Amino acid sequence: MEKVILVAGATGNLGERIVNALIKKNAKVRILVRPETNSEKLKKFNKSDIEIYKLESWSETEIAKACAGVSCVVSALSGLRNVIIDAQKILLDAAIAAKVPRFIPSDYSLDFTKFLNGENRNLDLRREFHEYLDKTPISATTVFNGAFAELLLDEMPLILFKQKRILYWGNADHRLAFTTIDNTAEFTANVAIDHATPRYLRIAGDLITARQIKDVVSQITATKYSLFRPGGLGLLGILIKIARTISPGKNELYPAWQGMQYMRNMMDKRAELNLIDNDRYPEIKWTTVHDLLTKHNKSFDRL
Ligand SMILES: NC(=O)c1ccc[n+]([C@@H]2O[C@H](COP(=O)([O-])OP(=O)(O)OC[C@H]3O[C@@H](n4cnc5c(N)ncnc54)[C@H](OP(=O)(O)O)[C@@H]3O)[C@@H](O)[C@H]2O)c1
Repeated sequence: MEKVILVAGATGNLGERIVNALIKKNAKVRILVRPETNSEKLKKFNKSDIEIYKLESWSETEIAKACAGVSCVVSALSGLRNVIIDAQKILLDAAIAAKVPRFIPSDYSLDFTKFLNGENRNLDLRREFHEYLDKTPISATTVFNGAFAELLLDEMPLILFKQKRILYWGNADHRLAFTTIDNTAEFTANVAIDHATPRYLRIAGDLITARQIKDVVSQITATKYSLFRPGGLGLLGILIKIARTISPGKNELYPAWQGMQYMRNMMDKRAELNLIDNDRYPEIKWTTVHDLLTKHNKSFDRL
């Protein structure tokens, strides 16, 4: 029987790609749309194989109706406490009320299971949600993908294109996990239509060290890049505290200090992925950092 997958957050960057990957796999897709969602965003979903479920409110009763007959609810919501805890709890409770057997929470991050509260504000919220999720009868699977590889092109200050340097903290030979948004979406779509999956799945389009990134960028650009180590993770921790004091940005999803927290976690031994689940769905073609940078080589001068 054709599987029905409900995607929440389908209007977002990752969510839309999960929807497209599900359609490619011939799944029946239902998307949840909030009353406040910009209607422009819905135009791209006007395909006969997507069922758009417009909610009057983000409530358990309404979402449970949308969950009828669904085999997996995929969350790709993004936000702070009001979203990751409050809105996701409503989504989860609705899925359980409608007897949906499986749930994928909106994690899509580095493996935060070994980190402690206080180390990364956005990941703390996900761990807090897991405490609630793991007490429910639903079968949940988290996808850990490291960082979206595309962040290397702009938002993550690791490749300093102008200075021709690779910024890292701590150990230049520590492996960092990067996965493109499309690879993450395709893997998540496979998980959603799978029969049974473990609590955690870990993927990486590439596991690459700062030293190797230096070599890759130098080779692609035919320019010599060098490593730049301002200090260890301890110093980065002090800088995070200073950045947080100067610019608290409490209600911002990605204030500068949060990006720094993510960088610190990525470069921490506890985030290292030793066993990855990339081979679980053999049809996926993984994009390496080399592939991604080669594709965008022409735009480096503008970065
Ligand atoms: N590992 C990484 O490097 C990395 C990087 C970026 C993101 N991520 C993760 O990927 C996931 C998706 O992020 P994204 O960047 O794709 O997000 P996004 O583009 O900002 O989209 C967010 C989605 O959440 C929905 N949403 C926001 N507030 C909501 C609320 N109160 N109630 C219900 N829905 C709400 C939005 O719906 P509307 O259209 O109705 O507003 C939208 O569909 C998140 O878990 C994020 O942390 C990971």
